[in-house]
Amino acid sequence: MRHFLTTEDWTRAELQRWLDDARELKTNPLQPRLRGKSIALLFFNPSLRTRTSFELGAHQLGAKAIVLEPGKGAWPIEFEDGAIMDGDAEEHVREVARVLSRYCDAIAVRAFPKFQDWSVDREDRVIRQFAAHATVPVINMETIVHPCQELALMLTLQERLGGPQATDGRKFVLTWTYHPRPLNTAVANSALMIAAKFGMDVTLLCPESRYVLDDRYMRAALRSAQAQGRQLHVTHDIAEAYDGADVVYAKSWGALPFFGDWARERPIRDEYKHFIVDAEKMRRTAGGGQGYFSHCLPARRNIKVTDEVIDGPRSLVIDEAENRLHVQKAMLSALLA
Ligand code: CP
Repeated sequence: MRHFLTTEDWTRAELQRWLDDARELKTNPLQPRLRGKSIALLFFNPSLRTRTSFELGAHQLGAKAIVLEPGKGAWPIEFEDGAIMDGDAEEHVREVARVLSRYCDAIAVRAFPKFQDWSVDREDRVIRQFAAHATVPVINMETIVHPCQELALMLTLQERLGGPQATDGRKFVLTWTYHPRPLNTAVANSALMIAAKFGMDVTLLCPESRYVLDDRYMRAALRSAQAQGRQLHVTHDIAEAYDGADVVYAKSWGALPFFGDWARERPIRDEYKHFIVDAEKMRRTAGGGQGYFSHCLPARRNIKVTDEVIDGPRSLVIDEAENRLHVQKAMLSALLA
């Protein structure tokens, strides 16, 4: 039994098999490969795409998905070992994980950081505790990484760039963008890792060094890049980053040095609204402005990206969202079949 907590645990070849299968499932969506099986979907945070695509994907494979929202229709859960449970939590993850394992064939979890202390949040305790105590595969639906989004992004790029090897050597730019609130670094961590794992030359564009991502993910991306003979480059120069880019991937995130102290970060972040992805910047991309744009969604229009770019012919946001469905079905098929 293997969990799908992060793509770091899986090789490029293993992930490519899922992407190949996702293409087949995209052509023939109704395949009862998981008839009679079930999956518990635990949402500690809101979702549109993840919930819809997992529920629908299970249905299309002949499986049953059960959505649970701990603290809202399901009992609040305690995660600390040895806790004296005199607070809000009614049961411990040790029971929850094992009970759900008796009912279901997989447990999928969405649990964002608490945004108070990065040294605590970076331990990813909620999903790690489920993985420790469950006796069925545990799947990450976004915690401090978002591996399902990674698969969807890579399938989308392979479709547009020309196949499984077509990403090799292409310039992938992950650009920080402004957002009025500090957001999770999960998708940013993930975008760096998957682009590097699939042989892209990766550039991280962010306003200043305080917006560089956690060293764990920078190192993971660097290891992949070096293994593929590629580069991981950090820049704060917008023009340099966009020049010749094949793909511009946008995401906002809170600067880690200010984690939990967001009032201090706000005036700094407010200085960088010009990192918005717009047509002028996209004109610098490969082929005289033929670079692709994408984002995981949800995206605030005219804050992170202009209408012109997100609605433009090189925008991949809807394809990437659709591909969540196909890649997750392939992943579920592999883990549960
Ligand atoms: N991209 C993504 O995970 O979307 P949701 O938050 O709507 O699930």
